[in-house]
Amino acid sequence: MTNRAARLVLTVNGATHVVDAVAQTPLLYLLRNDLALNGPKFGCGLGECGACTVLLDGIPTRACVTTAEVALGREITTLEGLGTRTALHPVQQAFIDEQAAQCGYCLNGMIMTAKALLDRDPHPSVATIQRELSRNLCRCGTHVEIVRAVQRAAQLLAAQTDVHDGARG
Ligand code: FES
Ligand code: FES
Repeated sequence: MTNRAARLVLTVNGATHVVDAVAQTPLLYLLRNDLALNGPKFGCGLGECGACTVLLDGIPTRACVTTAEVALGREITTLEGLGTRTALHPVQQAFIDEQAAQCGYCLNGMIMTAKALLDRDPHPSVATIQRELSRNLCRCGTHVEIVRAVQRAAQLLAAQTDVHDGARG
């Protein structure tokens, strides 16, 4: 392990970025400070709250306790990689539709974790949604709306799939 800065090549939201940093730097710092990707939030900084969640090769990962070195050669997806302001990802749209936020600080982690769940399991039960999100903390207590948002997201994604299948058939 070295404390010297090195050229680190990160693949974030499909684009390649080169940053000069110590390989042990938390990934969250590079995303927010060097790449201006502020979707992932700094909450506890200890891997406990989930506010900083990104996907590493599709797996929800706490960027505050993941070093840049661990992310090298892997596909990093942040909230910014899901949708755009004019074309939201169905999970983002569902969270808006269900008004599943008060302060909104936890939402990055909730949305990224939900996205990974729905990629794996397009029709999760309420119990599965609750279990998957149980390690993402929401201080505002919007859990009921958040679970509803994930259910709605599953419906939106299913409808999208039906439209695509219909267009193909
Ligand atoms: S800020 Fe990373 S888990 Fe809380
Ligand atoms: S909406 Fe405030 S922490 Fe979840």
